Amino acid sequence: MNYNIAVIEGDGIGPEIVQASIRVMEAVGVRFGHRFSFQKVLMGGCAYDATGNPLPKETVDTCLASDSVLLGAVGGPKWDTLPGHLRPEAALLGIRKALGLYANLRPAQLFSSLASACPLRADIAEKGIDLIIVRELTGGIYFGERGRRQTKNGEEAYDTEAYSVKEIERIARVAFDLARKRKKSVISIDKANVLESSRLWRETVHATAKEYPDVAVSDMLVDNAAMQLVRNPSQFDVVVTSNMFGDILSDEASMLTGSIGLLSSASLGDGTRGLYEPIHGSAPDIAGKGIANPIATILSGALMLRLSLGLEQEAFAIENAVNSVLAKGLRTADIARTGEDTLTCSQMTDAVIACLA
Ligand code: NAD
Ligand code: IPM
Ligand code: MN
Repeated sequence: MNYNIAVIEGDGIGPEIVQASIRVMEAVGVRFGHRFSFQKVLMGGCAYDATGNPLPKETVDTCLASDSVLLGAVGGPKWDTLPGHLRPEAALLGIRKALGLYANLRPAQLFSSLASACPLRADIAEKGIDLIIVRELTGGIYFGERGRRQTKNGEEAYDTEAYSVKEIERIARVAFDLARKRKKSVISIDKANVLESSRLWRETVHATAKEYPDVAVSDMLVDNAAMQLVRNPSQFDVVVTSNMFGDILSDEASMLTGSIGLLSSASLGDGTRGLYEPIHGSAPDIAGKGIANPIATILSGALMLRLSLGLEQEAFAIENAVNSVLAKGLRTADIARTGEDTLTCSQMTDAVIACLA
């Protein structure tokens, strides 16, 4: 089969890690007899520099015409003082919205060979970490009314959080459907003791849960959840939460697995096309040094094969290869212990490809 993949390298380490994922997918293509046509498009700071627009229309059109989209990361200090609508991050929100990708799946799993990279006490890490955050991606405070206004006390700025029943229902269904394939339990995270939008969230999640009598549902307040993730992460399986809470908690969860450089994500809507990206950003502090961990982006490629292209065996082959490489003790700098030898981004990619063969 031939698959058309739109590729957004983005900024910072984006090009390095996307190259890694493409090389792995090409190796999978050779092994399983598929052809992936990768079409690079501009988005983020690089697109702003080249065209004055961080999300050119051509980029949206190419993504809409593709089978799926692979993304590195966007943003960096160079573009931090642009007005909000011209920032690279606005382009990322724009492409998620334009493609209707309301569900962001962020799996966090502690590989047994990386137990020593987990910063938690050994007796906690031993119980295992295998959770998935289902983050609402096209609503909430990221997309609510915002602005600045003059008041009698001077200038103020505001961002508003709003969620409709429809938005909550559809993300809850994604979480419940996923729970049916896992441990049949969902923890919904909110701030219902303070926020009205969280109270509607909670009501709607419970009303939707009636369609899934076989799945257990419970609630947790977000501040407690941030603490519980560190105290006892093995209690979490499927977690469903809002756009901003999911953003924050997934960075926290990533570190429990050893590094943010390991966590992949899938952004999905109602169709089969998705956008696949690591959860981390453009890492300006290590950009261009060739030391970024490519595993998050390589695993995002695997998720694309499974969830958008229906290539389960091929996805599993990539995940297996990553597992083998880690089990052999091969490490990029972010997951190495002091004094351990480290691989560059491209050496780690070579090692994964070697394990695929
Ligand atoms: P970041 O995730 O880019 O980096 C945080 C820390 O993690 C840094 O020390 C970085 O070196 C490290 N890190 C991240 N990815 C790594 C990898 N693959 N291997 C090894 N180390 C890695 O977060 P930040 O510094 O807060 O943000 C930098 C820029 O990225 C900002 O402009 C931000 O808006 C943007 N950002 C973009 C995305 C995205 O495109 N999806 C996501 C998050 C942040
Ligand atoms: C992420 C990022 C983005 C988000 C930013 C860059 C807009 O942090 O993908 O996790 O908050 O969604
Ligand atoms: Mn984030």
